[in-house]
Amino acid sequence: MTSPASVDLSVNVGALRLSNPILAASGTFGYGVEFAHLLDLNRLGGFVVKGLSLEPMAGAPAPRLCETPSGMLNAVGLQNIGVRAFVADKLPALRQYRTAVIANVFGCTVEEYVGVIRILEEAEGLAAYELNISCPNTAHGGIQFGSDPQMVSEVVSAARQAARRPVWVKLSPNVTNIAVIARAAEEAGADALTVANTYQAMAIDVQTRKSRLGRVTGGLSGPAIKPITLRLVYETGRAVKIPVIGLGGIEKGDDVLEYIIAGASAVQVGTANFSQPRACVDILNQLELSCRSNNISVISSLIGSFQAD
Ligand SMILES: Cc1cc2nc3c(=O)[nH]c(=O)nc-3n(C[C@H](O)[C@H](O)[C@H](O)COP(=O)(O)O)c2cc1C
Repeated sequence: MTSPASVDLSVNVGALRLSNPILAASGTFGYGVEFAHLLDLNRLGGFVVKGLSLEPMAGAPAPRLCETPSGMLNAVGLQNIGVRAFVADKLPALRQYRTAVIANVFGCTVEEYVGVIRILEEAEGLAAYELNISCPNTAHGGIQFGSDPQMVSEVVSAARQAARRPVWVKLSPNVTNIAVIARAAEEAGADALTVANTYQAMAIDVQTRKSRLGRVTGGLSGPAIKPITLRLVYETGRAVKIPVIGLGGIEKGDDVLEYIIAGASAVQVGTANFSQPRACVDILNQLELSCRSNNISVISSLIGSFQAD
């Protein structure tokens, strides 16, 4: 059998067409512009910028990162320049690229999420919004938005009404039954689901008996989480009809194929950007080679092709 001469890597996430399924993940790729001298941003299917809040945030005390076996912990505390500075200082430079730019949005109340979206709605150059719902809801005693279906429904409906662009909802993996949360987001009008964020975790310095982070706990990411999140992507894909975007521990082309076969229409690459800033392009090249050697000419034909028996 001869390998296909060209591989069609394009995918659709709802109405949004991407040239390939690889996006850089929020919080690991700055505002995109910082990576422009390291790789050709136009080769990416897209990238998701650092989470944006209504006002600038200073973030958590150092140390903010620590390595763990096959992964890392972070407690960055959602440091960001604020949505207005993003629109004024970063977005103009991003408009020259044809890759999809997705704004990751968060708040501590439903009104804050809507406020960020309203400001972004005034600006050109964005392909979609991604709501980070792994945030404490200060109006409801600090419980994470993403762990309660009622709160998910409220924040997603409000965002959906405020936005003319697609709204992706990034789910927390720190839940008992992700299908319940996924359906709540879908029913409230989400256009796609991003699965998933980091896992709450901790690491202790035995000399000081203190946390190895500036905060007691942080979020675990990297290869250590890949098999766990792959299962969540599979379960989410079976629970909803809207597209799923998978991410967690992707480091090579075959990791992308695993997520796609499990049900993801596209993927994101996070922690790998820290060890190799060109990771997204390297993974894209490997993906294309892997498709050729596996005789896959149209990658979208693989989405959700997992064989249960
Ligand atoms: C340092 C760091 C900062 C992050 N910041 C954000 C953020 O602002 N918003 C968000 O939705 N996810 C954020 N994430 C989560 C990642 O986008 C991603 O969901 C997670 O790291 C799992 O993917 P990975 O294993 O490929 O890193 C952050 C992750 C890391 C490591």
